[in-house]
Amino acid sequence: MKKYLEGLPKKIRELVYLAKDLAAYRRMPAYLVGGFVRDLILGVRNFDLDIVVVGDGIKFAEYFARALKAKLIRHKRFGTATVVLKPGLKIDIATARSEIYPLPAHLPVVKPGSLEDDLFRRDFTINAMAISLAENDFGRLIDCYGGVGDLKNKTIRVLHALSFIDDPTRIIRAIRFEQRFGFKLDAGTLKLLKEAVRAKMLKIVEPQRLRDDLILVLKEAEPIKEIMRFKELTGFSFIDKHLVAGAKTIGLLRCADKEIKWFIRTHPRRRALDSWLIYFIALTDNLKSPAIKPLVQRFALKRGEEIRILSYKSAQLKIAPALKKKDINPSELFSCLEPLSYEVIILLKAKFGGACLRNNIDKFFLNLNGARISISGDDLRRLGLEPGPHYQKIFKSILNAKLDGKLRTRQDELRLVKNIIRRP
Ligand code: CTP
Repeated sequence: MKKYLEGLPKKIRELVYLAKDLAAYRRMPAYLVGGFVRDLILGVRNFDLDIVVVGDGIKFAEYFARALKAKLIRHKRFGTATVVLKPGLKIDIATARSEIYPLPAHLPVVKPGSLEDDLFRRDFTINAMAISLAENDFGRLIDCYGGVGDLKNKTIRVLHALSFIDDPTRIIRAIRFEQRFGFKLDAGTLKLLKEAVRAKMLKIVEPQRLRDDLILVLKEAEPIKEIMRFKELTGFSFIDKHLVAGAKTIGLLRCADKEIKWFIRTHPRRRALDSWLIYFIALTDNLKSPAIKPLVQRFALKRGEEIRILSYKSAQLKIAPALKKKDINPSELFSCLEPLSYEVIILLKAKFGGACLRNNIDKFFLNLNGARISISGDDLRRLGLEPGPHYQKIFKSILNAKLDGKLRTRQDELRLVKNIIRRP
């Protein structure tokens, strides 16, 4: 694998060589493992280095972080640590361990183990390979469970029959990797997966772990493909007992997908969309409002996510009718849409396909979103107006007049302020 490692981008290659030097200097057997090795063989970009150390992984991580002057996050209970270099570039370092699952779907009891133990505790053969970082052995691939063969045959295969029972989130991971890479589930693995689904194993997973894996699915390059496979293999009752993605929901997801792509193409400079949240809201569209709150709580979604989910529900009733009007004023359009997030606006566009609503939303993004006035509180003070709540009212009047094309320059705005002040 030396050749593959040498072909890595310079920054990543330097990190690999630093790990190699540290392993030699500290006499600690260290290995690259997991998704990094899989993607290296596949030729897929992956900058998340995953290192396993036989011995004390946290100590190795401390040496590593010190050498890079980087931040270190330790997870003592699991003997793991993360070296954070910058957003999007991190190194996970773990102590090689074996795992025992005392109860299905619960966190395992871990104890230090050999490299083989560590590889055997993993989800799929394609994620259970290692590359040696030892001086005399550098670049040797360790593939105890047939990972390379499965990569060649495009197969997702568990390492043992209890894999989905021990950790049912692997059901979600199996489908995610199958769809991401265009692989197939091996027949035995598919049978085990279906048995675990029939035994309702996903229902006993801690909801926040489900949430994390579900978000990863929705962040994949083709979430609709993934969702269709979930529909076929697991259904969605593990998210909520009333959730069924019928034809209407799938239609909405497809429209949302188109609108997301349109937005990214047309407005490349705006803030990055939380596309996964758009897919999540579309997927749960058939749930009634009273079912949404408990789901948000069960999944412990962030406040900002909750606000967007709930505002989509209310915007359908309160905002969508106004957006369907052909002759809506720019200022009215602005007050409807400016308080909403991009995610919610995109979903409204996907849900209500009418030409007027679509045009109005396009117009908003093109001409109105982010509009500001030029005058400030200082200007009002200079005109002798005592500060108070009426400032906001004045600003709003000026902004509305500007949006409706009645004011062009700062002088126009000041003129209008003076008129407002003079009014009895
Ligand atoms: N792993 C596992 N079981 C899980 C989660 C992770 O066995 N439920 C192991 C796999 O060996 C995996 C590694 O931990 O390769 C790292 O996990 P993660 O970073 O989540 O996965 P990646 O394989 O790196 O996947 P991705 O490309 O999506 O980041």
